[in-house]
Amino acid sequence: MKALPLVPREHLPEFLRALPKAELHIHIEGSLEPELIFKLAKRNGVALSYPSVEALRQAYAFTDLQSFLDIYYAGASVLLHEQDFYDMAWAYFEKAAADHVLHAELFFDPQTHTARGVAMGTVIGGLHHACEDARARLGISSALILCFLRHLSEEDAFTTLEQALPYRERFIGVGLDSSERGNPPEKFARVFARCSELGLHRVAHAGEEGPPAFITTALDVLKVERIDHGVQAIFDPQLIERLARERVPLTVCPLSNLRLRVTPDLSKHPLKQLLDAGVMVTINSDDPAYFGGYLNENFLQTFAALPLDAADAVRLVRHSFEASFVDEATRAGFMRQLDDCLARFL
Ligand code: ADE
Ligand code: ZN
Repeated sequence: MKALPLVPREHLPEFLRALPKAELHIHIEGSLEPELIFKLAKRNGVALSYPSVEALRQAYAFTDLQSFLDIYYAGASVLLHEQDFYDMAWAYFEKAAADHVLHAELFFDPQTHTARGVAMGTVIGGLHHACEDARARLGISSALILCFLRHLSEEDAFTTLEQALPYRERFIGVGLDSSERGNPPEKFARVFARCSELGLHRVAHAGEEGPPAFITTALDVLKVERIDHGVQAIFDPQLIERLARERVPLTVCPLSNLRLRVTPDLSKHPLKQLLDAGVMVTINSDDPAYFGGYLNENFLQTFAALPLDAADAVRLVRHSFEASFVDEATRAGFMRQLDDCLARFL
């Protein structure tokens, strides 16, 4: 890597905002802002348990992952029609464009919707059309990753995969999310093996609240290519060494970790220690409508709290392009855009 001239600390926020980035860990249902929840509830005649946008926002005081998930699944209940999924994803893409996101890989949770009688084609259709428009109108490339809910059974995951296969060309991979405690990666060994045979990319949430051992089994049993969160690796030095040696990307989400009390304070977040240990760390927003900020806000608050500099920022965004599931020519194009940005700035 070329030597990087210093960016004075007072110019760091401007530099962070301007950097081109890829976002690899965003649950699209977690981008549903309270205003849009109320608009869709009205449009679809869905009753909400909160009287106003403000009352809903005030309920976003989470104590752990489960306390968030309960509200997150309730929020998603307003999504019924293809247009609703389109509107949600389009609102995210507009925010992403403002944050200089060149490429986004969107997680979606179909079981949250199919369990309410919404067809798989409705979910994937709306999201796919928003992805197409993001490319045409905003110049953002994107892809969809179907997540299995780990609090449900592996059999349910298999049924979900079957329902999605008619739309195989519209998603690039599968992930594993929802309640981590008590639901180890091994529970989904057979469905992930099947996804591998189908040529799907594989990622999994591991080591968010769960133990470092879940990161190891996600890698060894599910054969995932990236770990979502993975911050609990900080408690296992041998695992940190392995992640660095094998260049396993971690899609870290600092504001999420703060709001779900994975870390008591951003100044105590392990991101810098992992980065300095050579781990391929990236910064992401997870569920930005619930956790107080989109991608740039995650960068800004993390850099304000930790002793990170411009070289670290460049490392983080390079990692995001390296870890993305794009072809090599596309990746090289992203790297060129990064170099152009650096040349303009420095
Ligand atoms: N689903 C949406 N956000 C999640 C998170 N942070 N962890 C697990 N499952 C999720
Ligand atoms: Zn997540």
